[in-house]
Amino acid sequence: MIYLKTDEEIELMYAANQLVGKTLAEVSKHIAPGVSTLQLDKIAEEFIRDNGAVPAFLGYGGYPNSICTSVNEQIVHGIPSSTSILKEGDEIAVDCGTVLNGFVGDSAYTFCVGEVSPEVRKLMKTTKESLYVGIQHALEGHRLGDISNAVQTYCESRGYSVVRELVGHGIGHVMHEEPEVPNYGRRGCGPLLRSGMCICIEPMINMGSKNVSFEKDGWTVRTKDRKCSAHYEHCIAIRPDGPQILSSFKFLEEVLGDKAI
Ligand code: MF3
Ligand code: CO
Repeated sequence: MIYLKTDEEIELMYAANQLVGKTLAEVSKHIAPGVSTLQLDKIAEEFIRDNGAVPAFLGYGGYPNSICTSVNEQIVHGIPSSTSILKEGDEIAVDCGTVLNGFVGDSAYTFCVGEVSPEVRKLMKTTKESLYVGIQHALEGHRLGDISNAVQTYCESRGYSVVRELVGHGIGHVMHEEPEVPNYGRRGCGPLLRSGMCICIEPMINMGSKNVSFEKDGWTVRTKDRKCSAHYEHCIAIRPDGPQILSSFKFLEEVLGDKAI
């Protein structure tokens, strides 16, 4: 069942997602060599609570923290830890969710730790661009596969691979609603896109092969070949006049300045 949201509900989704954007900005201020991923988690949790919201990830399916921190070969769902210390040249995907006024916000961004290699930077840039290419296809009357295919084609034509085991999702009162939003697929296939649909599009793109491994901690997903992976996520609403991005990278890009990807 795909729940279509009213304008009022989309307004509340917007508020929850804007707070995620501001939380990612707060976290981004502290991303530097020598910082632990658990420190970043604490900063995010405090910021979310100070703003009258609750971390959406904490306790979700038993997840132990407020953000996911996935470094280098980690794709998604990396668990923050005091022993995971960022070092110069790493890239770190930070995924964050909030619950505000009964609605969930969910967004992710991959950051550089100091200077990353040109190869990794290119992976990050392409992954981020593919997110916006996907969003451009989130049009009323089109099909979900149009979004999926656009992301896949954009990344594969640039020599990268698309993770299959993890997908984006519908979102609303809960973090994961129907439909699933794969980053691969066929044009003209899948559910019809309708005004009022709220979905998270979240390309997870690998430098090497698409194959993944699941770590023994029960959460962390990494590349099998241990090459780098990047992850960006926006929550969007499909509206009569086109897609509306409910989350925002504006706040973190203000912090990053000319260091933004
Ligand atoms: N953005 C991720 C997702 O859409 C975050 C979920 S992490 C979890 O699945 F721990 F909360 F599950
Ligand atoms: Co998500």
